[in-house]
Amino acid sequence: MSRDTRERYGTVSRLLHWSVALLVVWQVLKIFDRIEDGEHWVGQTLVPWHISIGFLILLLMLARIFWALRNQGSRPPAPPPRMLGLVAKAGHVALYAALVLMPVSGMSIMIGNGYGLTVFGMELVAQGAEIPWLATFGGMVHSPLAWLLLALVIGHVVMALVHRFVKKDGVLQRMF
Ligand code: HEM
Ligand code: HEM
Repeated sequence: MSRDTRERYGTVSRLLHWSVALLVVWQVLKIFDRIEDGEHWVGQTLVPWHISIGFLILLLMLARIFWALRNQGSRPPAPPPRMLGLVAKAGHVALYAALVLMPVSGMSIMIGNGYGLTVFGMELVAQGAEIPWLATFGGMVHSPLAWLLLALVIGHVVMALVHRFVKKDGVLQRMF
């Protein structure tokens, strides 16, 4: 199993990147609940997994942060020029932060409202008393952050394609 090098992300980083990317697309489908109250195929088949998949993303992100820190210094460098390289780095850090805060705020909605937390059929937190400040925090953060995350992801994918087809450098290939 290959580690990260200065030229390319290793197997673990690539597996984590692409599995989280796929799961995030799945999670964003929750927006479809706004159409006909979710009474359609997406709402009835994919969206019911929202809490479990969201929790899985949190675990994968914790693994990803651990792996990134462990491989610090031996990962692909930010592409030049320096200023744009810093913007790319900031964008990646923002993606990491959003992908931790999304599940944390989602869990806050559930636990704060006293609904408890059940993940893939396992009850992690039983239904219980409401915790108003936790519910307020989750309610204020989750939906606005979802839209910000969507914007970040779109910007990220556009930049990945700019690297591939306009700049024609090897940045996209580092993640394959
Ligand atoms: C990376 C993980 C997650 C992403 C990307 C995500 C994304 C979203 C999106 C896009 C919406 C729809 C927002 C809207 O219509 O404005 C939503 C709503 C919601 N999510 Fe998540 N979510 C994640 C994790 C979680 C987790 C772990 C939970 C619960 C444990 C959760 C609970 C909820 C709830 C209860 C709503 C409905 C909130 C409302 O209608 O105000 N989410 N989420
Ligand atoms: C929901 C979707 C996605 C998320 C949340 C996401 C997130 C991230 C994050 C956080 C990084 C930083 C790498 C690290 O330090 O671990 C990264 C790197 C990267 N991503 Fe994504 N990504 C997504 C989708 C995509 C897609 C669709 C592409 C390709 C079209 C892509 C191409 C890349 C590339 C090439 C890098 C490496 C950039 C570099 O070395 O400077 N990503 N991604």
